[in-house]
Amino acid sequence: MKNILLVIGTRPEAIKMAPLIIKLKNQHQFFNTKVCLTAQHRQMLDQVLDFFEIKADYDLDLMKPNQNLHTLTSDIITAIKPVYDEFKPDWVLVHGDTTTSTAAALAAFYSGAKVAHVEAGLRTFNKLAPFPEEMNRSITGRIADLHFAPTKASKQNLLNEAVAKETISITGNTVIDALKLGITKVNEQSNEIVNLKSIINLNKKIILVTGHRRENFGDGFENICKALKVIAENNFDDVEIIYPVHLNPNVQNPVNKFLSNQPNIKLIQPLNYESFIWLMNKSYLIITDSGGVQEEAPSLGKPVLVMRDVTERPEAVDAGTVLLVGTDTQKIITETEQLLHDDNAYTLMSNKHNPYGDGLACDRIISILKEEIVIEYE
Ligand code: UD1
Ligand code: UDP
Repeated sequence: MKNILLVIGTRPEAIKMAPLIIKLKNQHQFFNTKVCLTAQHRQMLDQVLDFFEIKADYDLDLMKPNQNLHTLTSDIITAIKPVYDEFKPDWVLVHGDTTTSTAAALAAFYSGAKVAHVEAGLRTFNKLAPFPEEMNRSITGRIADLHFAPTKASKQNLLNEAVAKETISITGNTVIDALKLGITKVNEQSNEIVNLKSIINLNKKIILVTGHRRENFGDGFENICKALKVIAENNFDDVEIIYPVHLNPNVQNPVNKFLSNQPNIKLIQPLNYESFIWLMNKSYLIITDSGGVQEEAPSLGKPVLVMRDVTERPEAVDAGTVLLVGTDTQKIITETEQLLHDDNAYTLMSNKHNPYGDGLACDRIISILKEEIVIEYE
């Protein structure tokens, strides 16, 4: 029997670890599985746990308003030690590139527990973009004893860093497992979806927007807001922009300041995952700087304009569903207008692709943990 501890802190970690948590908890004969929340996010984390009906075993409850990287990192390392002391995990599973994943991995190393890294090997090779995530995942990659790389390219990045090849598997990304599971649970009669239907005009083309990257704070967000305002004004009769605004005050403040008075821009609270999947499906196109949304949208056949200069997810760019537009106001306007008014350009970008997986990543990860084998999903 192996003791497995999954540590999660933010919305995307919860979404992408949810199907793995559910499957591992069902395998009592092989694993004693527990979940530890750092609660780096609070409301946005709890939304996901409620939707997937996940109960945590430990909750460090660490989020502070407008927290900073330094204190959050040290708070996690300090607060998680007693959890490791009590549960004595054989494996600590961390996800991706957040402060939670890197601090939990480092603390696990200090406590003598082995670390398995889910969504390993993503790189932009620019340590300032995304900041601090590129450095976080590189550090976690150095600590980890097992690497679950979503794609061939992410495995190759690890091999190039001289990570031992027998510790790396290509599993696909659990984001697709989560999306497939999430779609089966969407209830069109849920309060949030019913409310969305009452405020959105679904006869118009819906542009769904999300954004929260630290490197875009300040001028970047101001440029993005200017672009969205022009797009909304130019296309007043047939476009509606829906923007569930991230709770980070560095995002809330500029977005509310620049966009709250435009009638065809709807600024709303972050949506629960159920409503967000529903809204992605209803959207004409998506403008985002999110990592997870870049992975989900190609599966749904939705074109994505990514407000970043570099991406650690080149697969969807290569497949043609994702285009990098940075935070240049004019570029965001030009590319959006083209997709709104040029049917050929739209059709080219809206083909369905699944470059990130087939929905079986969690089964592969569980087989690897059980048998300590290497898997090469192509
Ligand atoms: C974090 C991750 C980022 C991930 C993002 C997902 C790091 C360094 N960043 O960034 O990689 O893409 O989450 O959304 O780990 N807040 C709330 N309630 C919430 C969540 C956030 O009020 O449920 C506010 C708080 O004021 C908090 C602030 O947002 O202090 C920032 O949260 P934080 O997790 O530090 O940064 P994110 O920008 O969310
Ligand atoms: N998401 C959500 N509600 C929202 C916006 C996004 O549930 O209002 C989901 C989205 O489907 C994706 C994940 O949150 O799975 C992405 O999280 P985020 O953009 O915050 O972080 P990133 O992926 O950039 O790390």
